Amino acid sequence: MADISLMDSAEDNLRQSRSEPAPEALIDQFGRRLNYLRISLTDACNLRCVYCMPESMTFRPRQELMTDNELSTIVRAMAELGVDKIRLTGGEPTVRPNLVEIVRFIAQQQGVRIVAMTTNGILLPQLAEPLARAGLNRMNVSIDTLDPAKFKRITRWGRLDTVWAGLEAAEAADLRPIKINVVVTRGFNDEEVVDLARLTLERDWEVRFIELMPFGSEASFAQDAVVSSAETRQRIETALGPLHELVGYDGRDPARPYRLAGAQGTLGFISTVTEPFCAGCNRLRLTADGKLRLCLLRDGEFDVLTPLRQGADPESLKRMIAAAVYHKPWGHGLPDGEVPQLRLMNQIGG
Ligand code: 5AD
Ligand code: SF4
Repeated sequence: MADISLMDSAEDNLRQSRSEPAPEALIDQFGRRLNYLRISLTDACNLRCVYCMPESMTFRPRQELMTDNELSTIVRAMAELGVDKIRLTGGEPTVRPNLVEIVRFIAQQQGVRIVAMTTNGILLPQLAEPLARAGLNRMNVSIDTLDPAKFKRITRWGRLDTVWAGLEAAEAADLRPIKINVVVTRGFNDEEVVDLARLTLERDWEVRFIELMPFGSEASFAQDAVVSSAETRQRIETALGPLHELVGYDGRDPARPYRLAGAQGTLGFISTVTEPFCAGCNRLRLTADGKLRLCLLRDGEFDVLTPLRQGADPESLKRMIAAAVYHKPWGHGLPDGEVPQLRLMNQIGG
């Protein structure tokens, strides 16, 4: 597998790229068109979910992170390269200063059709409305259980009622469709999936069950606690009846969609570990410290921020990005015991 080490090659790329024509779209070596960029705005978070980071986590110093100006230069380059969907992640994106202004800028970029965010929802009561007004279209909110005590145990100190108020604020601001992310973790919330699935009977939300993935120092926890989507589906069907697979699924969304009989909303299953979906992958990730991560579960990264700080002009930046993206790998190495080591989930953004 082309697991690349592009970290040191920024200068080489800068040199090469001056003589090559600017590309119009991002296409990788397997012919996949990459139009969806996930930007981690910060590695910091106001929670410490047990599967994401240790309680004693420390975060990167600010000077290592992209400034707002650097971020806008990279976003503009990406939009010119055909990226039309951008999702803001973290850490927790809502703790980044100037978030509303960042959303406004991104939403105004020519070619950008969708601006989405994945958040823990804690700050939504005050932010949902201004974010919607700035041009945010969609929101995924992480809730792993509807039991306040379990919620606190998983997030180490989070309050479920705050997140619930955040969801109400998101609905009031018309940030639809609302998607709920549930990471299924054995011993923490594997029995809660039924209650979470039941939410879709009354609400037109999409509740998505995500298989736990291993990263770096937290890998052994994740490997012991992973619950397959097949097991989660089984548990839901036993309690609530058959799940009907939705027709028309195009393979690009990592979540396979289902519906319970008579339900308003839908269920999704993201089976990254047991049933990878690399063929339809259209995603790139930009970390808060300005590295383009080509695959969630592989450590190969391309440093965009260093050449930018060294004065690369926008056209060379675009050529470098296109050249790097070409090497996007196919398939993760989890079955062969290859666990990504470079970053924890909070430094990638999911
Ligand atoms: N495996 C799977 N999903 C994870 N998330 C955080 N850590 C992990 C992990 N190790 C989820 C969060 C959030 C999304 C960004 O990723 O709960 O919903
Ligand atoms: Fe924060 Fe999300 Fe990680 Fe939980 S999963 S600690 S909310 S970044």
